Amino acid sequence: MSRIDCLLRAMTLEEKLGQLNLVTAGQAVTGPVVCGDTTKDICAGRVGGVFNLWGLDALACAQRSAVEETRLGVPLLFGLDVLHGHRTIFPIPLAETGAFDSRLWERTARAAALEAASEGIHLTFAPMLDVSRDPRWGRIAEGPGEDPLVGEKFAQAKVRGFQGDDFSRFYPLAATAKHFCAGGAATAGRDYAAVDVSERALHEVYLPPFRAALEAGCAAVMTAFNNVNGAPMAAQRRLLNGYLRRRLKFDGVIMSDYTAIAELVEHGVAADSVEAAAIALKAGVDMDMVSGVYLAHLPEALDRCLVDMRDIDAAVARVLQLKDRLGLFDDPYRVVRLDAGAKETHRRLALEAARRSATLLTNRGLLPLSANVRRIAIIGPLADAGADMLGPWSAAGGAENCVTTFAGLRRALPNCEIAHHSGVAIEGDDESGIAPACALVKGADAVVLCLGESAGMSGEAACRAALGLPGKQRQLAERVMSAGAPTVALLFCGRPLAVPWLFERAQAVVAAWFLGDRAGEAIADILTGRFNPSARLAVTWPQEVGQVPIFYSARSTGRPFDAANPYTSRYLDCSNDPQFPFGHGLSFSRTTLSNLRVDCAELNTSQPAKVRVDVRSESDIATEETIFLFARDRIASVARPLIELKDWTKVALQPRETATVDFALSAEAFQFPGEDMEPVVEPGDVDIFAGLSADPDRLLSARLRIVCA
Ligand code: NOJ
Repeated sequence: MSRIDCLLRAMTLEEKLGQLNLVTAGQAVTGPVVCGDTTKDICAGRVGGVFNLWGLDALACAQRSAVEETRLGVPLLFGLDVLHGHRTIFPIPLAETGAFDSRLWERTARAAALEAASEGIHLTFAPMLDVSRDPRWGRIAEGPGEDPLVGEKFAQAKVRGFQGDDFSRFYPLAATAKHFCAGGAATAGRDYAAVDVSERALHEVYLPPFRAALEAGCAAVMTAFNNVNGAPMAAQRRLLNGYLRRRLKFDGVIMSDYTAIAELVEHGVAADSVEAAAIALKAGVDMDMVSGVYLAHLPEALDRCLVDMRDIDAAVARVLQLKDRLGLFDDPYRVVRLDAGAKETHRRLALEAARRSATLLTNRGLLPLSANVRRIAIIGPLADAGADMLGPWSAAGGAENCVTTFAGLRRALPNCEIAHHSGVAIEGDDESGIAPACALVKGADAVVLCLGESAGMSGEAACRAALGLPGKQRQLAERVMSAGAPTVALLFCGRPLAVPWLFERAQAVVAAWFLGDRAGEAIADILTGRFNPSARLAVTWPQEVGQVPIFYSARSTGRPFDAANPYTSRYLDCSNDPQFPFGHGLSFSRTTLSNLRVDCAELNTSQPAKVRVDVRSESDIATEETIFLFARDRIASVARPLIELKDWTKVALQPRETATVDFALSAEAFQFPGEDMEPVVEPGDVDIFAGLSADPDRLLSARLRIVCA
C-alpha cells in the first residue's frame, strides 16, 4: 500500500480535514482575516498548510510542531505569494511580459523559486494568469496582460521556472495557476465583482493560459473570488470538476482563495457555512484557504449527506500527493541550497529584467540625454521612492535593496548636477511643494519628472475608476513643463494611465512600471543611452477610461468606424484608437520590416507553412526587436477577431544589419471554438500580418489558404 493510502487509512476525520485547512500567519497581511497564532491547531493536526510566514527559523518551528507533536507527523505545506521575486524583486509581471521573452520569464521565476525554496517555502501562489483588458482592475499589474497566447507562453515559462523541468526528483517550488478564472473581466474593473462572460470568451480568452499552465505540469490551481456567469468560482462544479478535472485531467491540488468558501454565503449560493463547505468540496476545491469551514463544518455536511467520505478522501489524497511530490515526507525541513554567488546573479538578472521591461512610449529626440546635459532636475513624488519600486506582492523583498531613480541617475552621471524635489505627494491635495520644485527646474538642461502611482495602488483591492495621475501630480507636471526645460516623464504604475495631455507635452515618456530592486539603475541606463530600450506593451494603452475594455483583438462589427458615416461604431467625444496599441514600444534605433512571404499558398493539417519577413536596422546602434505575427480568418462560421496574435519572435540586430526571421505556422494555430465550442479548423483564406505592434496601419500582409483534409 502506498504511503498516502496508509496515511488515509490511519487518519481520523479531523486529521483529514486538517490537511485541507490552509491558514495564514500574520507576517504579511493579504486579506481581511488573519488566523492569529495557529500553533495549537498545528499541534492538534488541524492544519495542512500555512502561508504568509517566512524565515527559516519560523518555518522550522512550525514544521516541528506538525512533525513532532501530531499523531501522524504529516508535514506542513508552506505557501507564499512569490509573484515576481522572493528576496530579489524583479519587475511586476505586466511589465516583464513586455520583454516578450519566455527565457527571461523563466529565469526570473527560477531565481525567485530558488530564493524562496532556500528559505523553506514549498509553494508559490503564482503564476497569476488572468488575462485582463481593463486597466481599472488593479490586478492587471500581476498578470501577463491582454492576450491569451501571451498568457499561455507566460504560463508555461513561469511554471517551468518555478517548478524546474525535471519533476522526477521534486519541485524546487510548486506553482499555483491563479485565479481560475476570468477575474480580469470583473464588472467595471472592480475587484471581487461578478463576471459575465460568454462561453466563447471563456474558451478563447480566459481559459487558455490555465490550460497551458497545467500542460506544463503546474502543481496547483487557485480559484478566483468572483462568480462567473452566476456561479462563484469556489462553487463552480462545471469549470473545476468538469473542465479542470475531467477535460484537462488535472489531478493536482485545487485551493480556494482567501476566505472564498465562507463567502459563498454572501454570494447567495449557500444558506450557511455547512452548505458552503459542502458545495466547494463537491465542486472540486481541495484546500480551504483561511475560511476554516472545511474543518469546522464538513463533519456536519457528512451527517447531512451533503458530501461523502470519498470526496474528502480524494481531496486529502491530492494534498498528500503534493507534499510527497515536494519531498516533504522524506525531509520535512527541506531547503533548496542556493549556489554561492546566486544572490549576485539574481541581482544582475534583476537589472537585466528591469532594463528589458521599461517601455519607451514617446520620444521627440530628447532621449538618450545628450552628453552635454550638465544640470538635471529630478522632480516628482516617485523620484526617490524606494519601496514603491517593488510594486505589489513584493514577498520578502525590502526597500533597502531598492535603487531609486534619483540614486540611479546620480550613480550614472557623477559629473552632473542633479537637483531633486518631490513637489507633491503621490496622493493628497497639498500643492505647497510645487513652487520650490519649479524653482529647481530653472536653468536645468533636462527635467526628469517621476509621476504615477504608489505600489499599493495596484494589485489586490486596488482598483481605480479614473486612470489619471492621482493627487496633484498633474498640476505639478503642468507647472514644471511650462518652465520650458526639455522634460522626460517617467510613469510608475501597475496599469496604463490615461494621460493624453502628458504624452502631448513631454518630450519623452517612459512607462517605468514597478521595475523591482534595480529600477533606478535600469531607468538611468535608458535615460543615458547605455541601454537601448526594447520592451513592448503587453496591453493596449487607452486614451480615456471610457474606452475600456480596449484590446487589439476586437471583432469586427457590421458597421465598422467610418469618419464619413455617423451611423458607425464610434464615440462622439473620443476616437476609437488607443493611445498606444498592443506591442507598441520605441527604441533609440529604428527597425523596418519588408517582404513578408509564405512558402506555400495552401496550408493543410500535416505540414506547417513557413512565414518569413526581412527585418532591417536603420540605425547606428545595436537593437533587440520584437516581430509579431498576427492573422485574420476572413470568413468563418463564427466571426473571428480583426487580428489575432499567432506568434512572435525576437531578433538582435547589429547597426544597419538585415536579418530574416522565420515563423512556422501550422493549421492548428487557426483552431477556434466552433459554434458548439468544440475546437475546429475551418478551410478558407486567412490574412497573415507581420508588424512591430498591432497598429493596423503598419502591418505587412500576405494571404494563405487553409485546406482541411
Ligand atoms: C488573496 C489573493 O487574491 C491571492 O492572489 C493570494 O494568493 C491570496 N490572497 C494569498 O495571499
